[in-house]
Amino acid sequence: MRPGLVGVVTGAGSGLGRASAELLLDHGVRVAGWDISDDGLTWLSRRESARTTVVDVTDAAQVAAAADEVRGTWGRVDFLVNSAGIFVLGSLADVEATDVRRLFDINVTGTTLVTQSLLPDLIAARGAVVNLSSTVALKASVSNAHYAASKAAVAQLTRCWALELAPHGVRVNAVAPGPTNTPLFATAGMDSATTEAFLAQRASTIPLGRTGEPVEVARWITRFIDDEWITGHVLPVDGGTSIA
Ligand SMILES: NC(=O)c1ccc[n+]([C@@H]2O[C@H](COP(=O)([O-])OP(=O)(O)OC[C@H]3O[C@@H](n4cnc5c(N)ncnc54)[C@H](O)[C@@H]3O)[C@@H](O)[C@H]2O)c1
Repeated sequence: MRPGLVGVVTGAGSGLGRASAELLLDHGVRVAGWDISDDGLTWLSRRESARTTVVDVTDAAQVAAAADEVRGTWGRVDFLVNSAGIFVLGSLADVEATDVRRLFDINVTGTTLVTQSLLPDLIAARGAVVNLSSTVALKASVSNAHYAASKAAVAQLTRCWALELAPHGVRVNAVAPGPTNTPLFATAGMDSATTEAFLAQRASTIPLGRTGEPVEVARWITRFIDDEWITGHVLPVDGGTSIA
């Protein structure tokens, strides 16, 4: 990782955002962590070379203020990791309209607002964006169709933005993780027995025979930030799920 880089990680309070922020800090990079959860960000507020801001990524004014804060502090932004997101379990028969709207508001509109707010900085730095898609965006599965659709939208935003921003030297890639051991499912309101059964069922379909660990996804996120001749990719990091 090139020394002196500065970037924003959304969803840094938990799971894949947290693992990415930790790895980036370990590489000597400065990280502004944004999350809707103040408690989630406590770990990061204790780290040198880090800043934390409580932000709801769906709120354009909060996002704009947080972007100004990073600019004011470090004067540049070289990369953005869009990890803030939610999961909703629900079949077509019983999914609620409010859940569909929430999924697209956070996973798609939130990703858009944050990227838009930092665009001038990313262009100035010829920087990198890494989005969080999912293996369910690439391969159909039962009982989370709207979550999968929101992550398919993120995959296609990634490819389209990669083309749009290539003339500015900005790279846009995504990771598409398979089931990874984070609080995502508990946060979605699934109790521990349901989460365990869900992950065990998913694990049984993974060729490499197990669910992933956050750092195994974070490594590819940092690689996409570092590598300067790759753009428009949606990389499955999923133990082989998407090819099975
Ligand atoms: N864990 C998996 O199996 C998995 C698989 C594929 C993709 N993903 C994606 O990875 C990303 C990170 O998920 P995770 O597993 O780390 O989940 P997580 O629940 O551990 O972390 C998500 C973080 O996003 C934050 N967040 C939620 N809504 C927000 C909002 N409106 N504004 C700001 N922050 C908000 C939460 O507070 C939380 O800290 C998500 O986009 C998720 O869809 C996860």
